Formats: sequence, C-alpha cells, structure tokens
Amino acid sequence: MERSLESLLAWWDVSGVDVPDIPQNTPRRLPTQTATDKKPAAPKSSSPAPRKPETPNAPKSAAAEALVRKIENLDQLRLAISEFDAGEISDHARQSVFARGNPKADIMVIGEAPGRDEDIQGKPFVGKSGQLLDRIFASIGLNEDTIYITNVINWRPPGNRNPTPEEIEACLPLIHKHIELVAPKIIVLVGGVSFSALTGMTGIMKNRGQWTTLKLGDLEIPTLPIYHPAFLLRQPALKKDSWLDMLSLRGQIEALK
Ligand code: URA
Repeated sequence: MERSLESLLAWWDVSGVDVPDIPQNTPRRLPTQTATDKKPAAPKSSSPAPRKPETPNAPKSAAAEALVRKIENLDQLRLAISEFDAGEISDHARQSVFARGNPKADIMVIGEAPGRDEDIQGKPFVGKSGQLLDRIFASIGLNEDTIYITNVINWRPPGNRNPTPEEIEACLPLIHKHIELVAPKIIVLVGGVSFSALTGMTGIMKNRGQWTTLKLGDLEIPTLPIYHPAFLLRQPALKKDSWLDMLSLRGQIEALK
C-alpha cells in the first residue's frame, strides 16, 4: 500500500474511525493508538491484539470487581483507584486521573485515557484536546458546573500508547462503579474507544450523534457518542458534526426539564 495512504489509514485508526478494508496481508488494526493526544506508534506485531483478556489481566479485572464491591461513594472510589494496581499502566503513570467537574451534574462525559498533560495535572481533558472539548460544550452553555468529566482508564498508558483491550477490560468495573455512583441523567461518550468499551458496539463514524441507552444495574441512561476532540483537531471540517451533536444534546437536556 502507498505510504501516504497507509499513514492516513493509521491516523484514522488512531482516531477511532472505521477504516476501509485493507488488503489481506496487512493487519486490520495498524499501530494501536486511538483518539487521544497521541502520535501513532510503530506496530508491535503483525497480528491483531486478542479481544479477550489473557490470564495475567484476568485477575486485575477480578481485583477491580472485588474492590468496587466495598465502595459506597466517590471519595472512596477516588482513593481506591489511586491505590489500585492496574499493572503496567498504573506502574508507569505519575498518578491516577479521576475526574473534574460537578459530580452532581446531569451530564457525565467519558473519554478514553489520560495523556501527558492529564498525567501531570491529575485531571482529565486538560491538554489541547481537552480545551477543544471544553469549547465544544461551552457552545451550548455547558461547563464544569454542569458536566462531570472522566475517562474509561484512569492512568496514562506508558509512552501515550493505546490502552490494550485487556487493560480496558480490567478497568471496566471501575468506570461502571463510577457511573453508578454519579448516576447521571445523560452520558456523552467521547471517541471510539470509550464508545466501544461502554456499549460493546464499534464504529464511531457511523454511530456518532446516534443516541443509545446504557444499561447498568438499575440504571438506563441515554448516551450520546461524539467524535474525540483530538480527531477534530486533525479533521476540523468534521466540527460541524459535533455542532449537530451538541444541538441534539441540548434537545435531550431540554427534555429533562
Ligand atoms: N484524551 C482522553 O480521552 N482523555 C483525556 O483525559 C485526555 C485526552
């Protein structure tokens, strides 16, 4: 495949975008990065990553499940996450990144994983893409008083690589508990990784702007997938879609009143 096309497809893949079919001898997932403030990494192997957790990570997910059973509030969850051993990601991160915004807000915004700035500051979405995300929400009058922001993964993956499917799976009990404790009226999933991790569906390009329902215990929460701001920084023409998504979000907020 031509290099320029290959790198374009890699970037789309990096951004959580559905890529067109690639010839058989090329791995479908190129360098496994997604829609954060990240640069594409060199491919580690020619075979795609396995979907199911492998043995070393299975106990991590079990550990997270056991941990959250005892948790009764957000302070306890924050503390438990800060002490949790999530393997390589928590070993290498400066600190865990929990959340920012108003935990009593109706809207919970969930991204993928912290990047460099978030790792330094200990807050989600504070780098360049976070600033764009703030502006996107500000376009319909939302801010830290009216939204609550977190990520599926609470640690910056080393070298800004993608979280692996196993790491995502291992951390799912933590984000599920986080959602249960906040019990938002609306969830916004930012980017393909967060969309797939929490809904089990794939394809942010075809699903962005399409409301779905996230079911978690007794909760049934209207959920809107949107493009990741890191992707929009590279594809500014698609910001018009994000505007439509914000109008749709505003409509849903109005319907709550
Ligand atoms: N990208 C994310 O998905 N989350 C962050 O917190 C920062 C960048």
